[in-house]
Amino acid sequence: MKCLDTGSDVPSCIDLFSDDGALAARIAGLLRALRPGAEVAVGHQLAWLSARLASTASRLLIIDGRLPDAFPALNQAKQAGPRVRVLFLAPDVHRMQQAFACHADDALIFPWHADEVGARMQRLLAIRREGVEEAQVARQLKRGLTEIGRDLGLDEEHMLARFDRIAYFHDAATAAHERRVARYAGLLARAAGGSAAESLALEHAAPLHDIGKVGIAPELLNKREKLSAAERAFLCSHVDMGYEILNIGTLPLLRLAAEIARSHHERFDGTGYPQGLCGERIPFEARVVALADVYDALTSPRPYKPAWDAQTVADFIRENSGTHFDPHLVDAFTRHEEAFRTLQSELSLADS
Ligand SMILES: [Fe+2]
Repeated sequence: MKCLDTGSDVPSCIDLFSDDGALAARIAGLLRALRPGAEVAVGHQLAWLSARLASTASRLLIIDGRLPDAFPALNQAKQAGPRVRVLFLAPDVHRMQQAFACHADDALIFPWHADEVGARMQRLLAIRREGVEEAQVARQLKRGLTEIGRDLGLDEEHMLARFDRIAYFHDAATAAHERRVARYAGLLARAAGGSAAESLALEHAAPLHDIGKVGIAPELLNKREKLSAAERAFLCSHVDMGYEILNIGTLPLLRLAAEIARSHHERFDGTGYPQGLCGERIPFEARVVALADVYDALTSPRPYKPAWDAQTVADFIRENSGTHFDPHLVDAFTRHEEAFRTLQSELSLADS
């Protein structure tokens, strides 16, 4: 079945991963109510889905959560990045929660009401358009920077500084956070026994850990209200966008920055994202940045919360040793807690 997106608000085709003909007919009815003549492409095998996702077109995918391959299908779809939005139809609450944990953009529990599915589809299509536009910006940025770097013969450090500048133009608050995180990361790496060269490399690479946020509107980054599940999932995609932006060659600092961008939201107990890596399978530098990131996020005011005092933050980090954070790094942090406080005062003075 050939699908053409004519640029209308509702695409001429969406994908349904299901083996239920009656469900396909209901979804097709809903879609045609939004756009007459629109079609639903239906399949229930991972190879079929893989072929659908191979095209670079953006798409909305609905997954029937009753299928045994529903979660492998969800994982496959999320690897395609923000151009694919997934609505997961879960048979029970447990699987709905699991779907959100695996970054489904939205989920509903069977039996669902037709109006609700229609409304969720429309919302996801709107987010999908924003996501695709912003991911395209990120891709263009990457292409542009690669060419600029090549033409000018820039070395890695200059390239990274240029990326950092772009992050600053996009959202100054996020860029300031990224720089502070880099300083804390350098301090923590040294405290954990890293060499001066390793700490310095980390300080150069770590400011780019959130570079993928250039693909996300500042209004969403700084939103005060509670985020919806779909908004949270889109925000989480900054790790994939960051990796995509920085994954442009074999230069060691860029490789390091790309790995940090991808893995800084992994958690030591394996409950993080995007890959659910645990323990030492998470690159050391990403484990360092994960702790530094939280330390700065909590000691700084945000639109939705005041700054926490340093003692409360230190206690929080210790409480999350072995779950969120690498216990060895928490020990190193505790041994050098005073140095963190001194650096925090210095950085908050510099930003004021
Ligand atoms: Fe992040």
